[in-house]
Amino acid sequence: MRPLKNWDNKTWLSSEKYISNFHKFLKTKTLLNKNTKILDIGCGRANIISFLQKKYRFKNMAIGVDILRNKNTKKNILFKKSNAINFLREGRKFDLILIKQTIHFFSKNKLILLLNFAKKSLNPKGKILIFSLKTKNNKIPCFKKMKHQLNKSLKKDEFLFKVIRKNLKKINESNFNYEVNISKNKYINMIKNRYISCLLNLTKKEINKGIGEIKFKYNNQIKFTDTLKCISFRK
Ligand SMILES: C[S@@+](CC[C@H](N)C(=O)[O-])C[C@H]1O[C@@H](n2cnc3c(N)ncnc32)[C@H](O)[C@@H]1O
Repeated sequence: MRPLKNWDNKTWLSSEKYISNFHKFLKTKTLLNKNTKILDIGCGRANIISFLQKKYRFKNMAIGVDILRNKNTKKNILFKKSNAINFLREGRKFDLILIKQTIHFFSKNKLILLLNFAKKSLNPKGKILIFSLKTKNNKIPCFKKMKHQLNKSLKKDEFLFKVIRKNLKKINESNFNYEVNISKNKYINMIKNRYISCLLNLTKKEINKGIGEIKFKYNNQIKFTDTLKCISFRK
């Protein structure tokens, strides 16, 4: 798959409101304080752990690992450019391992490896929190070809959820909902920037045609609920 560069590049996913709502949700799932050791797998620009680092002043700086280093990655965290599996092999221990909107980049076998290493990397009572787009009735605004690609990816996610349930066993599942309200122009720019992985392999022609569809299909202000499934595992 081509690299995903604009996921959290000035989108609702990097907005203060989103991160603050996400933080509120996190607090319902796990205890956070200055002693918490956090690892964010597939951290992107590390907006989330950067927020948490500022808020909790973790004694051990939060660590973010991503296979890709983006120019404007946050500086107040420890960023490691690495394949997550290789990083976990180093054997560091954490209280919270976040894997947000990243599992779809892994094959079944690689995901099993990732989960096994993640479990081994947890301190007692540590948590793994996995977030991924909800697969049924997803509300992400799409054009036809994009929807087709997204559905293919969500099908794979459903399969990966089964793999996760089988591997982690004692898990808890819930949903994180975020109400997105974005101008159509801004959303079109996100599509041009191929913000989501289901756009990565489309041709320029398909993207331009899709933008035409979005212009026709949606009002000037686009509102929808962005829902993530959260799978929580406690050691
Ligand atoms: C959709 S983004 C999610 C970013 C961030 N977690 C968030 O929710 O805002 C997925 C990220 O996973 C990263 N990624 C993909 N495969 C990876 C791997 N094997 N190891 C580490 N990071 C990976 C991508 O480079 C990308 O930044």
